[in-house]
Amino acid sequence: MGHIEPADSTTEPTAAFLRACMRLPSPRLPIWLMRQAGRYMPEYRAVRKKHSMLDVIGSAELASEITLQPIRVFGFDAAIIFADILPPLIGMGFDLEFVKGVGPRIHNAISQARDVDMLAVPPATETMPATLEAIELVTAELGANVPLIGFAGAPFTLASYAIEGGGSKTYTRIKAFMYNEPAAWERLMTKLVTVQGDYLLAQAEAGAAALQVFDSWVGLALNADDYKRYVQPYDEKLFAMLSRAGVPTIHFSTGTGGYLADVAAAGGDVIGVDWRVPLDVAWEAIGHDRAIQGNLDPALLLAPWREIEPRVKDILDRAGGRSGHIFNLGHGVFPNTPVDTVRRLVDFIHEAGE
Ligand code: CP3
Repeated sequence: MGHIEPADSTTEPTAAFLRACMRLPSPRLPIWLMRQAGRYMPEYRAVRKKHSMLDVIGSAELASEITLQPIRVFGFDAAIIFADILPPLIGMGFDLEFVKGVGPRIHNAISQARDVDMLAVPPATETMPATLEAIELVTAELGANVPLIGFAGAPFTLASYAIEGGGSKTYTRIKAFMYNEPAAWERLMTKLVTVQGDYLLAQAEAGAAALQVFDSWVGLALNADDYKRYVQPYDEKLFAMLSRAGVPTIHFSTGTGGYLADVAAAGGDVIGVDWRVPLDVAWEAIGHDRAIQGNLDPALLLAPWREIEPRVKDILDRAGGRSGHIFNLGHGVFPNTPVDTVRRLVDFIHEAGE
């Protein structure tokens, strides 16, 4: 009684990425990039020349090899398991194809309320065994200083593929469904939360040290009122499930600059933001009791370094040296990004953050 327990240093991670997730001070500013394993890398293209996207994701060995490629080449502070947000939909009953030059297609998209009732809710151990095994292989390979991020799609972004059948510019099908069939919408979102929550927990169980939820399209489709009414309750349920994982969670979305506080309220230890909002403005909206990830415009990596450097410095200025900033792009790396630019960015962040 009366004495103060020393801080338990054994529970504090050493990896800069995990320290930033927990807003702990760190000697190094961590950087990783969404889509860091992808077509801009010749090593990736060499694997994809021989194997289809779904074959790579279905092979623990190929997926783990691709996950490690950008770690070896650039020295990122975190790896992200090579997979995609869409394959878990296959187990629910969707017919998914990655069409070359077009993008993902779902050939049996939802068109009426009763289609939702046909959807299965299987466990990830049955439907995504290769990804879970790849997580085990990668974590065995990576040291403690490069944590592995597991991920899944957020309910809205997955529902957009399930209803639109592919990418969309207007989101008219999903919005018409949401407004016209509120009961079926609730059943669909609830099934997606169950499947994605189970999948994310299984990834943490397999060794993922953090979990990122991608809501890539919600902010391009919905305003704050519709977000709060049709999406936020399900995001809240998903993040509540994830609290059992015992690892930090990252809640990423784009186009949500007008309602970042509502996105943050749904959950996530770290809030991932796009480049449309200045980082300091975004952090203010989210609250400084949360970590932030972002937010260089990925198109800037197509510019010469003299254009990139001041933009990167501006982001660092806006972060203000606070603990809890993870440097990233505001969205995924474009396939035509020069490898040398990525290398220069990683080195610059590591030198600047020292
Ligand atoms: O970030 C990483 O390095 C991990 C791998 C990863 C992929 N997809 C690989 C991929 C991650 C995290 C994703 C997430 C994903 N997939 C999202 C959310 C993030 C985002 O970018 O908004 C979304 C919306 C998808 C759906 C998806 N997958 C689309 C729209 C496409 C086609 C568009 C494109 O970029 O070609 C894919 C295919 C895909 N997923 C590729 C990769 C590397 C390209 C496939 C190829 O090799 O041809």
